[in-house]
Amino acid sequence: MCGIIGYTGRNKAVPYLIRGLEHLEYRGYDSSGIAVSENGEIITVKTSGRIKELKNKLSGIELRAKCGIGHTRWATHGEPDDINSHPHSSMSGLFTIVHNGIIENYLPLKKELISEGFTFKSSTDTEVIANLLEKYYEGDVLSAVKKCRNILEGSYAICILCKDFPDVIFGTRKGSPLLCGKDRQGSFFSSDIPALIPYTENIFTLGENETAVIEKEKICFYDSEGKKAEKTSEKIELPRQSAEKGDFPHFMLKEIFEQPRVLKETLDSLISGEELFPELSELKKSFFALQKICFVGCGSAYHAGLAAGILTQKLGNITCIAETASEFRYGNIPLDSKTLCIFISQSGETADTLAALLKAKEKKAKTLSVINVPESSIARESDSVIYTKAGPEIAVATTKAYTAQLISLYLFALCFAHERWQIKRSERDLLLRELRTLPEKVRKIIGQKDKAELFSTLFDGKNEGWFIGRGNDFAAAMEGSLKMKEISYINTGAYPAGELKHGTISLLDKGTPVVTLCCEERLFPKTFANIKEVKARGAKVLILAKESFAPSLTDEENVFLLPDTADEFACLLQAVALQLISYYTAEKRGCDIDKPKNLAKSVTVE
Ligand code: F6R
Repeated sequence: MCGIIGYTGRNKAVPYLIRGLEHLEYRGYDSSGIAVSENGEIITVKTSGRIKELKNKLSGIELRAKCGIGHTRWATHGEPDDINSHPHSSMSGLFTIVHNGIIENYLPLKKELISEGFTFKSSTDTEVIANLLEKYYEGDVLSAVKKCRNILEGSYAICILCKDFPDVIFGTRKGSPLLCGKDRQGSFFSSDIPALIPYTENIFTLGENETAVIEKEKICFYDSEGKKAEKTSEKIELPRQSAEKGDFPHFMLKEIFEQPRVLKETLDSLISGEELFPELSELKKSFFALQKICFVGCGSAYHAGLAAGILTQKLGNITCIAETASEFRYGNIPLDSKTLCIFISQSGETADTLAALLKAKEKKAKTLSVINVPESSIARESDSVIYTKAGPEIAVATTKAYTAQLISLYLFALCFAHERWQIKRSERDLLLRELRTLPEKVRKIIGQKDKAELFSTLFDGKNEGWFIGRGNDFAAAMEGSLKMKEISYINTGAYPAGELKHGTISLLDKGTPVVTLCCEERLFPKTFANIKEVKARGAKVLILAKESFAPSLTDEENVFLLPDTADEFACLLQAVALQLISYYTAEKRGCDIDKPKNLAKSVTVE
C-alpha cells in the first residue's frame, strides 16, 4: 500500500509533507520518511514507526527546502526498519524516490544492476527503481522514466527528486494511484484525495503510464510515449474538515455510534419516492436476462457480499456466488454478458477488487460497485455505482461502512427481486418497511453497550475463540471473527455450526469462548443442538439471538438479545453487537484499536 506525497512551492516543504502524510497514514503506518532538495543536496530523514516518530526525528533539524517528497509505508519487501523506510536514493544520490506498489521483477533487475556495479542499502524493491533511473539518465529525466517503465513489472506510483532539478518533482504511475493538484502556494502530488483537499478541490488523476512534472507554478503532463498531454482537472466535493474523534476515545467507537444516522442516510439516498435505485435505470433493464450474480470484495466487504448473496439468491431466484477478490481475479468463475458482478469496497481503491473488476469487464460481464469513497478508482471503472453514505471512516477496522454496504445490498436484493418479478410489490414494500426500522434497532443495540462490555469478559485471558452460525448467521460469524482478530489479536475462527463435528471440534478446549449467532428462525433448533455439543465439551458460549427466541433460551447463561427483524437482515444487527464486543475486548487488552498492527485502511497492493 503506502501513501506518497510531494510538494514544491513558495513555502517550506516539510510542514506540507508531514500534514499530507498524516492524511495518508491510513494507507500504512509501519514507517515514514521525507526527502527535500536543500542547497543542491537531497536530505532524507526517515524512521520506522508512526509519523509521530518522524516528527520527533525532524524536531531538531532545520530544513528550509521548498521542494520535497514523503512516504508512509505498509511494508511489503523488507522488514519495516529505518533502512527499508522510504525515500530511497540511487547509488550516487542523484535520484531519490518514494514508491507505492510492488515491483514483481525486482530480483532479476537487482542482480543485473549489481553485476553492473550498482550498490544497494535496503532489501526493498523500490531501491531498484532509483538505481535504474540513475542507470538510464542522460540528462533527461522523462526519458529515463520511460526506459524504466519499459522494464518494470508490477504496480507503482512513484515521486522522484533529481539533484539536477532541485525545484521539480516527477511522478508516474501504473496500477497504483497518483493524483496532483495546485494552489497559489505550490503544486502537490498525493496518493489520494484527503491530502490534497486542504489546498485544492481541482484534482488531476494520472492515467496508466502517464507522467506529471510539477513545479511551483505549473504542472505538465506527458503520455506513455513521453509526449506532452493536455489534462483537465475534476472538481472534488469532499468536506474540508478532517474527521475528528470528538469525545470518543477511539474513532472505531465513534463510527459504531454513527451507524443509525449512516444507515438512514444511505437508505434515503437510494430511494426516491416509491422507486428504489433511480440511478440504476439502465442496469435494471438487464435484470430479466441475468443468469448469475457474483459478489466480490475483500475482508469485511466480502462478508457483506456473502450476506447479500444469500438474500439475493433467495428473493431473486438467481444463482449468487460470493468470492474474495483475490480468488476471483485468478479463478475460473464463468463470466459473460448474462453475469452481473457486484464489487464491494469502502475505499474504492483495493487493488484485488479493482483487478477483479477489470477482469469482469474484459469478460463482458455487467459491473456494479458499492463504494463509500466517491471519485475512487473502482467507482470510476464500474458501469454503475451505488454510493454508501458512511462518510470518512478513519478506524482501520470497518464498522459503519460495512453496515452501510449491507443495507445498500439488502435494498438492492429487494429491488432486483421485484424488478425480475420474483416478489410482489406488496412483499417488496413489507421488507422495505422492515429495512427502514434497522437504523432504530441499531440505536437500541448501541444503547446496550454495557452489556457488550460485560460479554467481552468471555475473552478475558483467552488467545483463541470461535464464532459459529448457519446460513445468514454464518455470514455474521465471519465478520464477527474478523473484527475480533484484527483489533484484539485473538485468534478466532468462524465456522458453519453444522461443520464442527467434521474436524474442527477437536480443537475445542475447556473454557474456549464460542460466540453463537442464532437469528435464523428455521435453523434455530439445529444451531441450538450445536450449542449443546460445544457446551458438552466445556466451551463457554455466548448466544446472540433474536428477542423472540428468549423463551427457548431461559436456561442459557450468556444471551445477548437483539431486536427482532427479518431473518435475512439480522446479520446487520449482529454485526453491531459484535463490533462492540470486539471493541471492548481490544480495549481491555490495551490494543491500538484504530490502527491495529500490520494493517492499513486501504490495501492497494495485491
Ligand atoms: C476489516 C476491514 C477490511 C476491509 C478490506 C476491504 O475491518 O476493514 O477487511 O473490509 O480491506 O477494504 P475496502 O472495503 O476498502 O475494499
